[in-house]
Amino acid sequence: MKDLDHQTTDIGTLVAAQEKGYALAQPFYVSDAIFAQDVENVFYHDWQLAGHISEIPEAGDYFLFEMMKESVIVVRGKGGDVHALANVCRHRGSRVCIEPRGNTKRFTCPYHAWAFNLDGSLFNARMLDEEHDRSKLGLKPVAVEVFHGMIYVSLSDAPASFDRLRADLNPVLAPFGLERTKIAHRESYPVRANWKLLVENYNECYHCTAAHPEFARSHVTHMAAERIEPLNAEMQARSKAAGVPTDYFDCIGSARPKGSPDYAYNRYSLFEGYMTGSEDGAALAPLLGHITAYDSGASDVYIGILNPMLIYCDHALIYRFIPVDKGTSIQEIIWLVHEDAEEGEDYDLERLKWLWDVTTVADKRIIEKNQEGVNSRFYEPGPLVAMEAYTQRFIEAYLTTLTKD
Ligand code: FES
Ligand SMILES: [Fe+2]
Repeated sequence: MKDLDHQTTDIGTLVAAQEKGYALAQPFYVSDAIFAQDVENVFYHDWQLAGHISEIPEAGDYFLFEMMKESVIVVRGKGGDVHALANVCRHRGSRVCIEPRGNTKRFTCPYHAWAFNLDGSLFNARMLDEEHDRSKLGLKPVAVEVFHGMIYVSLSDAPASFDRLRADLNPVLAPFGLERTKIAHRESYPVRANWKLLVENYNECYHCTAAHPEFARSHVTHMAAERIEPLNAEMQARSKAAGVPTDYFDCIGSARPKGSPDYAYNRYSLFEGYMTGSEDGAALAPLLGHITAYDSGASDVYIGILNPMLIYCDHALIYRFIPVDKGTSIQEIIWLVHEDAEEGEDYDLERLKWLWDVTTVADKRIIEKNQEGVNSRFYEPGPLVAMEAYTQRFIEAYLTTLTKD
């Protein structure tokens, strides 16, 4: 039995003591100090998926991206560009924008009515002495990248460059036409667990057969590699004919190019009889982008370790892991369909969201039980199995973020 009172929370000591191939030590899931470090080094530093371009189609459309104590205005400017602006007034610091989304000509602070243009520049500051340089009093810009319709934001002073990621992932994502999709549904699942337990769970399918058999019926990811390979080989012929990319990138953790965010792309076959991630295997919505047929596959995509996506032929899902406190997180899922698809005619929302809704509800349950056990004085990190390789990859990438300069 371990004496919890004497467990160190010194990050350097913990990282050095972490055994490769084992689950993380208890302080990583229960310590206030480590959670504070996670927020700073991971959530504020890395790129975060803030939303989708279809949420702000017109100039002046905006939404707030909020995480812990930070709030960012994501707005479509007059020229069509997307701006991300710190939601902190340059007068005495009030939040400038209060409504979570809407359309506006400019942002007017509710405190003393300083007004800011859509690009953040100061439009008006009542009674401010002329001696002050107004060009220096705009809302502070936040790093933003629009990539295939997804809007990513980083609160870092020195965010990682998208150049390498763009060069590798542009060709494989282009056929899916994700910039021409729309949000069919989004759902938030509160989970009483540290955010890392959510990510670790997402990254392995060792639990799939027992926890959510609905998913295991259609997805092969709970099987050993040698059983998946022949299915993937058959799929690749179908993928080629349908114009679906099957290139493979795994640039996460130790494989991450210097100065780049983590990223990955992998397409794998579903079980025979499943065209997409549906309950009965049948199609769910119009084909995405330039795809010409169902290859009966699914693409796992990562843009940063916190932004997984899953792309089927007729819809895509975006996952967001949102920290609330050290023992509470939100799992948000966003379902994307072709922008021309009409609900009720081209897709049925209940059918569309069925698989990942039942799966996420089941995952929530096991993740919460995982946290309860991890809180115990009897918890001791155990060895991971081969099928948990991506969880191991996440752990390594995470530990790297804690020890970077
Ligand atoms: S704090 Fe915004 S105008 Fe005063
Ligand atoms: Fe799961």
